[in-house]
Amino acid sequence: MLYYIETFGCQMNAHDSEIMAGLLEQAGHMAAGCLAEAQIVIFNTCAVRESSENKIIGHIGNLKHHKEANPDSILVIAGCMTQQNGMAEKLLQKFPFLDIILGTYALDKLPRYIEEICQKRKKLVDNIENYTVSSCALPSKRLDKNRAYVTIMHGCNNFCTYCIVPYVRGRERSRNPEDIRQEMISLAQDGCKEIMLLGQNVNSYGKDLSKKTNFASLLRSVHDIEGIQRIRYMTSHPRDFNDELLQTILELPKVCRCFHLPVQAGCDKILKKMNRGYTTAEYKKLIAAVRELFPEASITTDLMVGFPGETDEDFAETLQFVKDCAFDAAYTFIYSKRSGTPAAKDPEQISAAVKKKRILELMEVQNPISLNYNKAMIGREELVLVEGPSHAREDILTGHTDNYKIVNFPGDKSLVGQFVPVKIMSAKTWHLTGQIANKDAE
Ligand code: SAH
Ligand code: SF4
Ligand code: F3S
Repeated sequence: MLYYIETFGCQMNAHDSEIMAGLLEQAGHMAAGCLAEAQIVIFNTCAVRESSENKIIGHIGNLKHHKEANPDSILVIAGCMTQQNGMAEKLLQKFPFLDIILGTYALDKLPRYIEEICQKRKKLVDNIENYTVSSCALPSKRLDKNRAYVTIMHGCNNFCTYCIVPYVRGRERSRNPEDIRQEMISLAQDGCKEIMLLGQNVNSYGKDLSKKTNFASLLRSVHDIEGIQRIRYMTSHPRDFNDELLQTILELPKVCRCFHLPVQAGCDKILKKMNRGYTTAEYKKLIAAVRELFPEASITTDLMVGFPGETDEDFAETLQFVKDCAFDAAYTFIYSKRSGTPAAKDPEQISAAVKKKRILELMEVQNPISLNYNKAMIGREELVLVEGPSHAREDILTGHTDNYKIVNFPGDKSLVGQFVPVKIMSAKTWHLTGQIANKDAE
């Protein structure tokens, strides 16, 4: 059968979609060119904010036409939304044309469920919490052969009070270091040059394993793999980013000089209510240490406005903190109430109008800072791993620098997958533009 997967949400989901594609192809199915021609349609969903959920629900509604035109098609809703309390029932009631609800623990059962539906035409729901999934790599069909995701751990134990992730992805489970290394070796043998190690909190890696290990040791143990030239990771929690890890990264040149350290708020009262486990002073100390050890590194963050109880004064503290920290870039979010999380029950919810006003103010403070950093890169020569033609134009290539800035530059598609030296010519808030510095690039 022809399958089509639409992915919402973070890198975890992007990689889960690669795994579902890999499993389906192993079972003999093939990728469809577009949704309209697909016999198996999978939506891999995200529940992190209400806006993401509403968008997905709208898309699911549109699947009705697909089912009417293709009554034998199999419609699957997978991913984080399916693990929310009562959501599977709600979806099936609202959209009776759906066939399978596949939770985040049940990916490996997808091919079997497809077969069952073909034979019995009975709805299937599997969203039970199941921690027995093996640590071995499941087959994946990688979207990008040169840059690959490798999951190092599943779940999250942090329970930040706003966040749904621990409820939909379960407790932390680290994969064995040997399995991770093996997966990376086989990716390198297939020509992969850059690895993104994935986990909700990568620096908790190993805490649940019987063998004593941690994220720093994992980085050391995979650093020598021939062919892998860059190692990235996502996401690291500021609370657990210790000196050992900083020193380890310093010794390991393949680990990219880009520190994404989501701070969420720049006000101690709010950080405490969020259960983030660090203060603004501790956070500032951490980024000062990063800047001292890695003067060339970029530091980026996530920020949230309108967390329950955030007063104008609290928000003003966050604005000042953002000015003080001078991040290379910040991903900004409006707090969204997620049912089942402690913050959702907080009586001090902030109005939509105030949240909107605050996010605009925050971006107004951050954007010029980001632009300044990017402008400072003008004239520099940066090594860019070419990812592909840009979305807008075939003759413009796109890729990232070591410190994770996006660079667009004119060049031929044949360079995709190669490291190319690019001279930075101009800068915008979210990307750089450049020119190939040396056409004899490796
Ligand atoms: N594990 C990662 C992030 C996961 S979610 C970490 O801890 O950094 C990615 C980002 O979404 C978070 O950093 C946070 O800024 C935002 N986010 C999470 N829950 C949210 C909510 N309920 N409302 C708005 N933004 C949220
Ligand atoms: Fe959510 Fe916090 Fe876990 Fe990140 S660390 S996934 S924000 S609970
Ligand atoms: Fe969304 Fe799930 Fe990722 S809720 S952000 S897809 S872990």
